[in-house]
Amino acid sequence: MKKKIFVTRKLLKENEEKLKNLFDVTLNKDDKIYTSQEIISGSMNYDGILSSVTDSMDADTILKLSNSIKIIANGAVGFGNIDIQAARQKEITVTNTPDVLTDATADIQILLLLGASRKVYEGRIAAETQNWKWSWDFLLGKQMSNKRLGILGMGRIGRAVAKRAKAFNMEIHYHNRSKLSSDLEDGAIYHKDLKSLFEKSDFLSINCPATPDTKNLINRETLSYLKENTVVGNAARGDVVDDDAMVEALKNGTVFAYGLDVYNGEPKIHSEYLKLKNIFLLPHLGSATKRTRWDMAFRATKNLEDFFSGKKPKDQVN
Ligand code: DGY
Repeated sequence: MKKKIFVTRKLLKENEEKLKNLFDVTLNKDDKIYTSQEIISGSMNYDGILSSVTDSMDADTILKLSNSIKIIANGAVGFGNIDIQAARQKEITVTNTPDVLTDATADIQILLLLGASRKVYEGRIAAETQNWKWSWDFLLGKQMSNKRLGILGMGRIGRAVAKRAKAFNMEIHYHNRSKLSSDLEDGAIYHKDLKSLFEKSDFLSINCPATPDTKNLINRETLSYLKENTVVGNAARGDVVDDDAMVEALKNGTVFAYGLDVYNGEPKIHSEYLKLKNIFLLPHLGSATKRTRWDMAFRATKNLEDFFSGKKPKDQVN
């Protein structure tokens, strides 16, 4: 008998077809974002869940899921939306989708740094309102080429950002929980602590996952380590940044400009971010290419397939 999978969000057609071939699935045709209560009641009599980044699977939700649920295959590399401790307690396997979105997300990270540093938001408004003329000092930004890039979190995506930044002749510095092998470092300079990385960086790329340890890691104190006029980009998670402290830094010139794709409490955006000009906002587009979304959902499907055929899923995170 086919295993029953509860799919929380509408997937691309090809992914839904594949799931239907393998499992007895309930799809979300209207793509409604389910509340925790709807996820809990939706899980009754199902064997597994294919979740998305928008599903808040906090401890309370996980602990109330049907006892029949044995796996949550999250269709994302980040799994900060899932309380891993609670999943462990309930003996639910959790998987993610690494690798397949590395390039798409690193591309967006470069776009964020460029968009912020070259005043793309203000430029777009000036062009759109036909309210501009070329002049020597019109919308002068900061050049990325030949500068120092600090990377916070040198995992797959951080390293892919570094690779791209080298095409801009940037000098790469990084901070990570541990120093990488020289192979993986590929010439990047390791900083044991955040302060030393921040003091060096002209541009800062946030690429660390959201965990209890990284929540508000960018705060009033750590922002004070930055040089004046640093450009910051965040394609990781909104939770890593204390928004009030960032707004202050954007106003006082510590941060020249901030490019971000991810938010605390998405899809809400801090109201000050919507007022400031030295900001470049995108609506969580990091993995938004068709190829990448196909691959993410196929990878989550493969994790379900492996799990139910008795193998350890490749991407198990707990
Ligand atoms: C991820 O996979 O974590 C992305 O943020 C989803 O878009």
